[in-house]
Amino acid sequence: MQRALELARLGLGYASPNPMVGCVVVHQERIIGEGWHRQYGGPHAEVNAVESVADKSLLPQSTVYVSLEPCNHWGKTPPCTDLLLQHKPKRVVICNTDSNPRAAGGLQRLQAAGIEVEAGLLEKDGRWLNRRFFTVVEKKRPYIILKWAQTADGFMARSDYSSKWISNAYARQLVHKWRSEEDAILVGSNTARYDNPQLTNRDWPGYPRQPLRVVIDRQLLLHQNLHLFDASYPSICYNLKEDREAPNLTFRQLAADNFLEHLLEDLKGRGVQSVLIEGGPRLFTQLFELGLWDEIRMFVAPHSFGSGIAAPHPQGYLLKKEVLDDNELQWRVRQPW
Ligand SMILES: NC(=O)c1ccc[n+]([C@@H]2O[C@H](COP(=O)([O-])OP(=O)(O)OC[C@H]3O[C@@H](n4cnc5c(N)ncnc54)[C@H](OP(=O)(O)O)[C@@H]3O)[C@@H](O)[C@H]2O)c1
Repeated sequence: MQRALELARLGLGYASPNPMVGCVVVHQERIIGEGWHRQYGGPHAEVNAVESVADKSLLPQSTVYVSLEPCNHWGKTPPCTDLLLQHKPKRVVICNTDSNPRAAGGLQRLQAAGIEVEAGLLEKDGRWLNRRFFTVVEKKRPYIILKWAQTADGFMARSDYSSKWISNAYARQLVHKWRSEEDAILVGSNTARYDNPQLTNRDWPGYPRQPLRVVIDRQLLLHQNLHLFDASYPSICYNLKEDREAPNLTFRQLAADNFLEHLLEDLKGRGVQSVLIEGGPRLFTQLFELGLWDEIRMFVAPHSFGSGIAAPHPQGYLLKKEVLDDNELQWRVRQPW
């Protein structure tokens, strides 16, 4: 199952809005096939794993390890449960059952057909791997990662709103990798105004996918010459004023009440499973007040500003600390894992 999870992880940034799934076929303690869900719309892990088995006559005496309950519905591809029923492996071991009611039910059908089924192996690891998917299914909103950099004395910007390069070059490149892994990147209007970010993943070459760029500008006060409005990549500006479509640029009007909840609902409707929110502090404060966050990735740089715009007090539980040269990276989660 460890191998199935490893394979599943290769779908990060590609499988969404589907879950990441890996599958391993074992015959007499030897791996004879493996696969993962490489791309949304493409074959599922079980299909790729079964296809990779050279001698399919071994399947009825094999164990199939799959990191998510085989799907039981027609989505973009046929149900994987049907495929397994066709090849009838001796045993199927599942990491996580599928909490999406549309896809669930595979486990029972396999059992009913006389296949030995076991579920829950490395369940916690699988829940962590697919935390974006499970959040959408269970909380009905995208998974929210808050990312910021702060000085050793706790500031995110100077009082004049200048903040560039608090974190070091390794941290900044890592952020481009993270952008590649999530479906959308969001900033508040002041961050767009003062930092003029491109919100691209240009420093993480190799990933073909650029996430959706998102900005909040309720009164539409931002200058249209900012990078975010350059139409180089799909971008959305959420506001209170107008709905408008231009190539690669959407202006989406939302109700003032519960604005952020509506924004997340709209993103979910666009197939966004996860959003990396890159500030600034006022936006974070709103999100903390509403409990709308799941994970924090916080860089702490060694230098001090003495005064300025304060970073939020880190909330939740510390998951791990990493060292990136002279920066410390803290991962925090809302719930202990
Ligand atoms: N060090 C870092 O990691 C980092 C990261 C990002 C930014 N920064 C710095 O932070 C500074 C800007 O941060 P900031 O805190 O002033 O602004 P900000 O968080 O970028 O902007 C505030 C955002 O919150 C929105 N907002 C406020 N109340 C809201 C509500 N009730 N409902 C919905 N949306 C609401 C605002 O919308 P409206 O515009 O519609 O009011 C705005 O989009 C800049 O100096 C930037 O350089 C530092």
